[in-house]
Order: sequence, then structure tokens, then C-alpha cells
Amino acid sequence: MKIFRDPIALQQELKGLQSSIGFVPTMGALHLGHRTLIEEARRRNGTVVVSIFVNPTQFLEGEDLESYPRNEEADRRICELSGVDYLFYPSAERMYGQDDVYVGAPDVRGYVLEGASRAGHFDGVLTVVLKLFHIVTPTHAYFGKKDAQQLALIKQMVQDFFLHVNIVAVDTVRESDGLALSSRNLYLSDAERHEALKISYALKRATTMIAQGIRDTAVITREMHKIMGSLEVEYIAFVDNEFHELPQVEIDNTIILIAAKVGTTRLIDNIQL
Ligand code: PAJ
Repeated sequence: MKIFRDPIALQQELKGLQSSIGFVPTMGALHLGHRTLIEEARRRNGTVVVSIFVNPTQFLEGEDLESYPRNEEADRRICELSGVDYLFYPSAERMYGQDDVYVGAPDVRGYVLEGASRAGHFDGVLTVVLKLFHIVTPTHAYFGKKDAQQLALIKQMVQDFFLHVNIVAVDTVRESDGLALSSRNLYLSDAERHEALKISYALKRATTMIAQGIRDTAVITREMHKIMGSLEVEYIAFVDNEFHELPQVEIDNTIILIAAKVGTTRLIDNIQL
């Protein structure tokens, strides 16, 4: 495995490659969710590139940029064991200048749900992903359904900017008790981890109600709030695949999303029908 820190050097290295390039962008603190994306990329491509970059522009003032878990040594080992060919580990100074061009998230879909709670977050995500795509020039890029809105906006950017890359969506990887894997789970105490399970319980309960024939999203939302009673729920939302809010569940075209704080840790999860 080769490690690159310089964007131009990596771009040069990858330029002449004939094989397909599978790319997995991450912010590190790699867990089984990330590893699943990497395995998927490994299975389907001649060359696999992983980036680890805690992207400052997608964190808002007062968020966890400074404390975001960083573990270069362990991440490097995971990448090596997963058969990664190139690990890209840039510095913020090489990725950003002083007075940069930015990508703007769409006015509506970029500013609801995560985009409303974290205004400007998706501008940062799309900007860094576009930069990374130009450096790595992947044929395939792998993203988790765990971040459903991020995935939808990246797909839209690829379409709107006529980018030459296939976006591959990978199912959310969960612990055996249902908790969606997240780098931020490292912040949770044992008691908080137990509390956090209410998020996946609520999603499961919603799917059970839908299986019983209930379609009114207000009714299901009320039940979900009951289950998550002790958490600070930021939103529960039912949207279609285009991220328009739904009053009634549409089978095969509904994503149920939750954002909630457990103690001081903000977690998101969703399920796609
Ligand atoms: P990060 O949170 O490190 O996630 C990297 C990728 O792993 C994302 O595509 C995310 O959806 C996926 N992922 C995280 N947890 C997962 C899980 N439990 N199951 C499946 N996939 C999971 O998302 C980011 O970083 C950043 O915003 C990034 C796209 C790298 C831009 O900075």
C-alpha cells in the first residue's frame, strides 16, 4: 500500500492507470461500515483508493472538528489488511487555500433535515468530494446509505456537473443489536450506547407499523417519539427518494430519517423502504 499526502503527486500517480479505480472517501476512525465500503470497492476494481481527511469545511462553528476521533496508525493497518492500494492522507493546508471556490448545495434539498440543523454542512461535503474526485479520478466511488442525504446530494452533484464517476450506494452496517456503526459512537459511554439503541428501535417499530398497513406518517412519528422519549430528538422525517417530505408512506419510495442527541453526541440513522 502506498501512502500519499500530496494531492498533485497522487493525481500524477493515478493518471496513467488503465484499471478501474474504486474510491472510498472517509474521515478516518475506520470501523466495519467503512471496511464494508472498502471491501465492495476491492471486489469490483483493479485499484482501490481510500482517503482519510477530517474535512474542516463541513464542520460548523462549535461542532466536534477538534475532538473528532483520529487514529492514523490503526486506520493505516485496517487499509493495509483490506487490500487498499493507495491511502490518501492530505493536510487541510494542501486541500484549501485562503479565498477558495466552493460548491453550493442545492437551495432546497441541501438545506432541509441535516442541512437545516447544520447550515452549510453540505457545501463543505460537496466541495471536498469534488476536489477528491478530481484528484483520484475514480471510475467508481462508494458511499454509505447511513448518510442518506449526503448520498443523494453527491448523486445530484455528479449529475449536475456531468462528472464521470459511478456512485455506488452501500447498505448501512449495524452492530448485532441494531446500532448503526459510526465514528461518533466512540463518544458514547456504556449507558449512552444503551440509550442510543432507541434510535434503531424506533426505525424498526416504524417498519412494523407500515407492515401492519399504517401509512399516516404523523401517526408513525408520534409512536417513534414515544420510543425515543428520553433522547433529544432533532428530527424524525419521512421523505421520498428525492427528499420531499411525505404525509403518507409510499412503499418502495420512502426513507425514514432520525437525528437525535444522546448526551452531547449527535447521531443520525435512517431506513429505506
Ligand atoms: P465518514 O463519516 O467517515 O464516512 C465515510 C463513508 O462511510 C460515508 O460514505 C458514510 O456514509 C459511510 N459509512 C459510515 N458509517 C457507515 C455504516 N454504518 N454503514 C455503511 N456505511 C457507513 O461521510 C463522510 O465521512 C464525509 O462526509 C466524507 C464523504 C468523507 C466527506 O468528507
